[in-house]
Amino acid sequence: MSAPPGPPGPRPKRPRQSRQTGPRPDDHVIVLFGATGDLAKRKLLPGLFHLAVAGLLPERYRIIGSAPQGSALSDEEFRAHAFDAVCEFAEPKPSAAEWDAFAQTLSFGAASPSDPGPLEAAVRKAESAIGGSPRRLFHLAVPPVAFASVVSMLGSSGLATDRSRVIIEKPFGTGLASARELNQKVHAVFDESQVFRIDHFLGKESVDNILAFRFANGFLEPVWNRQHIRYVQIDVPETLSIEGRAAFYDGTGAYRDMVVTHLFQVLGFVAMEAPVSLDARQLRDEKVKVFNSLCPIDVRHVVRGQYQGYREEPGVPAGSDTETMVAVRAEVDNWRWAGVPFFLRSGKCMAASRQLITLGFAEPPLRVFPARRQDAPRGLMNEIVIDFADPGSISLHFLAKRPGPENTLESASMVFHYEDSFAIANALEGYERLILLAMLGDQALFTRADGIERVWEISEPLLENPPPVLPYARGSWGPAETGKLIAPHRWHLRDNHG
Ligand code: BG6
Repeated sequence: MSAPPGPPGPRPKRPRQSRQTGPRPDDHVIVLFGATGDLAKRKLLPGLFHLAVAGLLPERYRIIGSAPQGSALSDEEFRAHAFDAVCEFAEPKPSAAEWDAFAQTLSFGAASPSDPGPLEAAVRKAESAIGGSPRRLFHLAVPPVAFASVVSMLGSSGLATDRSRVIIEKPFGTGLASARELNQKVHAVFDESQVFRIDHFLGKESVDNILAFRFANGFLEPVWNRQHIRYVQIDVPETLSIEGRAAFYDGTGAYRDMVVTHLFQVLGFVAMEAPVSLDARQLRDEKVKVFNSLCPIDVRHVVRGQYQGYREEPGVPAGSDTETMVAVRAEVDNWRWAGVPFFLRSGKCMAASRQLITLGFAEPPLRVFPARRQDAPRGLMNEIVIDFADPGSISLHFLAKRPGPENTLESASMVFHYEDSFAIANALEGYERLILLAMLGDQALFTRADGIERVWEISEPLLENPPPVLPYARGSWGPAETGKLIAPHRWHLRDNHG
């Protein structure tokens, strides 16, 4: 037990171990669309390499990079590109033998909607090298505007077979109409059981641990509801700017980029009823029930911010009113949560990079201890704080008696650090875990068509009628209105407390 001034900060990651055990997928040909892009370089190629080294990829597999003809690479060029990506971003770094084994599985096949020929040839070659009837996994790491055309090309070329699956990146649509249209186009080619809409937050160990924390323990569920919880915060500030992503970001903004895609998914885990089992259908049913109980967003309870200098970023139009920070009060109108506000916040160029869920508990009905403000800072008294930035922690904040003759209270906390308790070195990163699950055909941690459509549906009032953006200083917690939105409560992350 200790009395720290604020929540524990994230710790540096420890090196990961190599060999791991777990179910192994069927033999596979993995096609990576957008193979020359940023996501492939930072996450997907290093992630596939780590899965290979960990012994979690199928016994026989091939990885084919793909991009439109204009950005086509030779097999050798793709291997060199993958090598650079793995050296820069993979953990642990490759040994010569590990890299040579992985490099042999790599090839390239260009494809554009009018000419999938080189990709078809590369898939045929890879399949005959593997033998038997391997599965196909198509990962669409392409800009969202290209999702529909790549899926249609997979359908018209015959590349999409019954034994194929498709991973689709985010954001899935830009609003309800476009999400519905995209779902229709995807369903024209793939059955929903073959579709894996990816959200890498759901692959984070500490997000999944929310389910274990809630449903593997008996002591929390009795208080995890409106009788005891006054507010919930899901807060994901980032110190990063848009990092040269103006072309994507200015048309997207913080709400679509983070809230629709990630924060509502986390909210689904925090708010759901206990599923009958952890299988995909049950888990996703419970999550969709939460989304069905979400009230349409009330624009009076939304703050949109834009960091100072955003309009001068290369590629951003001078008068852009895209929000780089958003704070939203959401309501889950069901028996468990009616009346409990869920405050969601995320933004770029903010004071800290953190990923926190905070549950604030009701104050005791009677104060038997002398109430002095400095003893009982509001909003810090009784909170459970789940830090879901890997490796993650859970802390319980409460008041304790300060030793001495007086009955004086002070803030105290108990902290569980994932990495202190488990061999965290075994952990897979979000993308690694999710790609593995897609190969295993397990959809539990992927978003279902009706779920994503519902999230867009409740977002319509905000998307149709967004309040004006308010400027905020870089390195701050957003415009002052962000604090007013949550009053009389306070953000767990705030000045001198982040
Ligand atoms: C991505 C968003 O989906 O998630 C980025 O497009 C954001 O804007 C990123 O920075 C955050 O993910 P992580 O795992 O790096 O915290």
